[in-house]
Amino acid sequence: QEPISDLLDRLSEVVPDYPKPGISFKDLTPVFADAAGLKRIVDEVVAPFAGEFDVIAGLEARGFVLAAAGAYATGTGMVTVRKAGKLPRAVFTEEYLLEYGTAALELHTDDVAPGTRVLILDDVLATGGTVGSAVKLIERAGAHVAGVGVILELEELGGRKQLEPHHVHSLQLV
Ligand code: PRP
Ligand code: MG
Repeated sequence: QEPISDLLDRLSEVVPDYPKPGISFKDLTPVFADAAGLKRIVDEVVAPFAGEFDVIAGLEARGFVLAAAGAYATGTGMVTVRKAGKLPRAVFTEEYLLEYGTAALELHTDDVAPGTRVLILDDVLATGGTVGSAVKLIERAGAHVAGVGVILELEELGGRKQLEPHHVHSLQLV
């Protein structure tokens, strides 16, 4: 079987100078579009957490793809962690730092019951700000973070350290 890192290199597209000069952006949309690629990354991102979670939280926007597919594949439910202002009912809100300014993620106060074991999935772990705010939202709901799965980990930005002591599983370091 092809190593997952080779599959990601073969199917993803590196875009130079996006979103700004000097940055190389590894675009995963062709991996999602490939039947075997999508199945492989979804199966591999959830595998280490088998039996350890009751529901999968997907982080808007690209985390939704992984979380919905992973929940369907594992017979669990999926909850949406959304950008501020998108959820219609009562929410918890957690801000996180961007390069300039702040952003916020929200979770419906009743979408995860207390004691639920939640696996967080997103496409990329960079500084850890995004996943870190999702961790806080899940903990505010009285639920437990079972782990964090991502496809790409931008290792030098230190997200893994930021998320200690949670179990972080990435498919490729970039
Ligand atoms: C990107 C990516 C991760 C996050 C990682 O999302 O999809 O969610 O950044 O960065 P961090 O670890 O430094 O927080 P973005 O905020 O660009 O939004 P999108 O997923 O809606 O495109
Ligand atoms: Mg994102």
